[in-house]
Amino acid sequence: MKLPTAFVTGCNSGVGLSLATKLAANHKVFAGVRGLTDAKRADLDRAAAAAGVTDNLEVIECDVASEASVQEAVAAMLAKTDGRCDLLVANAGFSLFGSVEMLPMDDIRSQFETNVFGAIRCQQAVLPAMRQQGAGKIVLLSSVGGVWGQPFNDAYCASKFALEGLAESQAALFRGFGVRVCCVQPGAIRTAFIANAKRPDMAKVPAEYHAPLQRTMAAYQRSGQAAPDTSQTPDEVAQIIIDRVVAVAEPPLKVQTNPAIAAVFEGQLKDTTGEWGVQAAAKRFLAEPAQELSKHDQPMGQAPSHIEVSDFVQTSAGHLEYTIRSHTLGGVVVATHRYSDFARLQTVLASAKINYDNPFPGKLLVHTEARRKERMATLETWLNGALGVPAARDDPAFHAFLGPPAAPSA
Ligand SMILES: NC(=O)c1ccc[n+]([C@@H]2O[C@H](COP(=O)([O-])OP(=O)(O)OC[C@H]3O[C@@H](n4cnc5c(N)ncnc54)[C@H](OP(=O)(O)O)[C@@H]3O)[C@@H](O)[C@H]2O)c1
Repeated sequence: MKLPTAFVTGCNSGVGLSLATKLAANHKVFAGVRGLTDAKRADLDRAAAAAGVTDNLEVIECDVASEASVQEAVAAMLAKTDGRCDLLVANAGFSLFGSVEMLPMDDIRSQFETNVFGAIRCQQAVLPAMRQQGAGKIVLLSSVGGVWGQPFNDAYCASKFALEGLAESQAALFRGFGVRVCCVQPGAIRTAFIANAKRPDMAKVPAEYHAPLQRTMAAYQRSGQAAPDTSQTPDEVAQIIIDRVVAVAEPPLKVQTNPAIAAVFEGQLKDTTGEWGVQAAAKRFLAEPAQELSKHDQPMGQAPSHIEVSDFVQTSAGHLEYTIRSHTLGGVVVATHRYSDFARLQTVLASAKINYDNPFPGKLLVHTEARRKERMATLETWLNGALGVPAARDDPAFHAFLGPPAAPSA
């Protein structure tokens, strides 16, 4: 007997990887991966082999932000399935962190290009087949951010709200020809999603945003990886999609995956003024006193895998400002630090035998593995300690150590 056909996007990591692997137990799965290379498909291949489903899983190139790529991927699938597609999972997505004032329009467009237009492109590509066969399911990976807008998630939440409106508009109509549309609404999932988030140029963030931004980032640090009780694994979310959408003849329009955040959905539905969500966001993300980033950069006492130093900007005072991203347990802490000279920083790192990559001018990847893992109490003291200067970033002694400020650029 022929297996039903599933097309899943964004399968090289996280929920997509897990779902594609699980579905392949009883589906012929076409697993979309953008920029497909051997390295990029390696985790998926390993998972499929471990689950014994390699024969049912075909990895295909698919960048949902590209019309041609989606068309090609779906055409290739339909050519191998006698024109059949039983399940589309529009999972590919990413997070653009920041509020609109700090985000270039191009970045906002690209958020919608992937999260919204990417899903629509996939729908357009598979719907003719589903209509013709008189059956099919379309799963859109939405989010709690599709029903509750959150600070510094303007574009991301707007993109997920757009998916909700899309699906709700389609549901009644599409059921007329046997197609069920379903928005899956997870809360935090312990994937690389936050680490993969695109971030604003911190050096250009207006001062009024600094404190709320720190509090919001600290709040996100406390959820996700650091909160196994309230976040979920990609496997858990994938299994819920299978149990409550794929395996159900007539799944509902919306499926929440995480009972720990049920109050958010209830609160949003009950208060037609929208004030529940505003108050909840203020309390959850903005109300706490500003906390030092350093208290959160290693939520479970683990060292970052690496620290990314980037976005160098010459300030009028002749300092170089740059952003440090501490990749920790999938979470990322962003702080703006000032040092007086990039070349000097490189020299100091080299002389302290700190491994780093300089992938392109103005960007350092400082590796922390094997070194100083033992006692990295804070990101800042670690970096300062690594440089041999146990001083606060604005301490003149610190700048004195690093040498005179670089000449301001013309
Ligand atoms: N993690 C969470 O807390 C969370 C919560 C609620 C909802 N979600 C949603 O769940 C979905 C899966 O996220 P995840 O947590 O599994 O994160 P993830 O591990 O970062 O996976 C996202 C996947 O989407 C792919 N992708 C991004 N842009 C793409 C494009 N233009 N074309 C094709 N693929 C693209 C990524 O590929 P690359 O590796 O090439 O970037 C990656 O495979 C997303 O839609 C996300 O919004 C996540």
